This record gives sequence, structure tokens and C-alpha cells, in this order.
Amino acid sequence: MVSKRMRVAANVKRGPYATLTLQGEVIPSHPGQFYMLRGEWGISPLLGRPISILGEDLARSEIRFLVKAVGEGSRLLHALKPGETVQATGPLGNHFPLSGWDPQSPVVLVGGGVGVPPMAYLARRLSENGAGVIFCQGARTKEDLLLLDEIQETGVTPHIATDDGSAGEKGLVTGLLERELEYQPGAVFACGPEAMLRAVARLCRGKVPCYVSLEAAMGCGYGVCLSCVTRVKEAGKVVNQRVCKEGPVFEAEALPWL
Ligand SMILES: Cc1cc2nc3c(=O)[nH]c(=O)nc-3n(C[C@H](O)[C@H](O)[C@H](O)COP(=O)(O)OP(=O)(O)OC[C@H]3O[C@@H](n4cnc5c(N)ncnc54)[C@H](O)[C@@H]3O)c2cc1C
Ligand code: FES
Repeated sequence: MVSKRMRVAANVKRGPYATLTLQGEVIPSHPGQFYMLRGEWGISPLLGRPISILGEDLARSEIRFLVKAVGEGSRLLHALKPGETVQATGPLGNHFPLSGWDPQSPVVLVGGGVGVPPMAYLARRLSENGAGVIFCQGARTKEDLLLLDEIQETGVTPHIATDDGSAGEKGLVTGLLERELEYQPGAVFACGPEAMLRAVARLCRGKVPCYVSLEAAMGCGYGVCLSCVTRVKEAGKVVNQRVCKEGPVFEAEALPWL
């Protein structure tokens, strides 16, 4: 983990979403890891905001992120202009497993909301490694679907479910997952709203290894402030773990809310 200043090379907006490209020293990362990003915007907000890595290009010294403007910090990241600088601390946290299942079986990735960017990065990395990937994305409406072109570029066809039926199947993304589970995938990986993660974990329990990436409000991002603690089952006990350090990716079976 290194904290460095990076230059905004591009910031492409679509509604509340912005695809932010930062240029500078890039430390190789793995899908599921994140950065704490803070623009040079004066005193407030004081702390950086955790944003998952969407992709990296080591040859061009670039990292990409997808930011949704929801509050003060993310709105400021969304508003960044090319040429401005950002304090970027990372890569932080653990990452999704890249092996460990039957290589003959595909893996299912489930993404919703701002959980889609790390899953798009994971789809790219797994495809490069020769793994079979099934990508299920859920959204409220067609307008909320993210990164479809980027996912398709990796050779993976996104399966879509929207609440209002404006794209893909009408219903929840877990409906898509239920069908895929009938074909016994090697593993399931998920990132998105907590209700979605709980439903995914319940469907996978006892059937297939499942890993989920949790969100938590974060102060430091590297294990010091304890603002991001969650409860995790370990050796028959329930213990505190830091989402920023031991996570954000946890085995679903280890989460007491399963
Ligand atoms: C590991 C990790 C990876 C993330 N990756 C991305 C990403 O790739 N793209 C992206 O757009 N966002 C991502 N987020 C969420 C992002 O960090 C928050 O949206 C951001 O910190 C909100 O800050 P703010 O100042 O804009 O909003 P605030 O003013 O702090 O809060 C605005 C609203 O968002 C809620 N909120 C704040 N932080 C979180 C949080 N972490 N989880 C759930 N609700 C929250 C608040 O309760 C409030 O309702 C990630 C979060 C984590 C922990
Ligand atoms: S955010 Fe500070 S310990 Fe996790």
C-alpha cells in the first residue's frame, strides 16, 4: 500500500456515474481491492472515500474507477476534471480468489450497483486466466445497468435482471443465480447491496463456495481506526474483523448474518 498523488487523466460521466482514470505510480492489484481517494479540495471532507478498482493498465500507468455520486465525497470525486490531482492510497484490502475450484466448472459473478465495477475487473482477470465466467447483473431499471460494454469486451455475456423489466429479465438478480446454481458452478462471487449479498449467500449455502465483498463506512482504509469492523465466525467463535484489512472479501459461510 502506498499513498501518492495521481493525475486525473479522464473523467467520463453518465448521470450520477463517473468513470475516473488516474495516472501515476501504479502498484499491481487484484480484483476486489480498493483505493482511498481524496481530491485536493481543502479541509472538508477530511477523509478519502473507498472506491473499488475497476481496472489497471500498468503499461500506461493508469488505474480506473467507477464512482457514483451519493454524498459530499463521492460528488467531489465525480466532479474531478482532467489535470487535477488526487491523493490515492492503495491498493488496499484482500481480493477475490482467482483459483481453488474445479477448473472445468465456470464461476458465477453477481453484481449490483457500485458492486459491479470490482466484478467487471474480476471477470476480466478470470477470463485472462482461462476460467469460464457467467456474469449476472441486477439493477432497478435499464438506466442503472453498468459497464455492459466493458464486461462484453472480456468475452463474457452479461445476464441481466431489472426490477421493472426494462432490460433483461423482470425480477431480482438472485433469480438468475438460482438457475445457474442448477449447473453446479465452481464458485460464486458477489458484490453489491447487503440485501443482495444475504440472498446470494443463502442460495449458495451448503451447495457451492461463495465469497462476498462487504461495504462499510471507512475512516483510514488500512486497519488503524476500527471504524469498519464487522462480525465474522472464526474457529467456532464470532470475532471482530476489519472490512478494510481482513476484507472486504469474506467467505459467505463465515458471516454470522447468513
Ligand atoms: C470496499 C468499498 C468499495 C467501494 N467501491 C465503490 C465503487 O467502486 N464505486 C462507488 O461509487 N462507491 C464505492 N463504495 C462506496 C463509497 O465508498 C461510498 O459511496 C462513499 O464513501 C460515500 O461517501 P460520500 O461522502 O459521497 O457520502 P456520505 O455523505 O458519507 O454518505 C452519503 C450516503 O451514503 C451512505 N454511505 C456512505 N458510505 C457508505 C458505504 N461505504 N456503504 C454504504 N453506504 C454508505 C451514507 O450512510 C449516506 O446515506 C465502496 C465502499 C467500500 C467500503
Ligand atoms: S477503515 Fe480504519 S480500520 Fe478499517
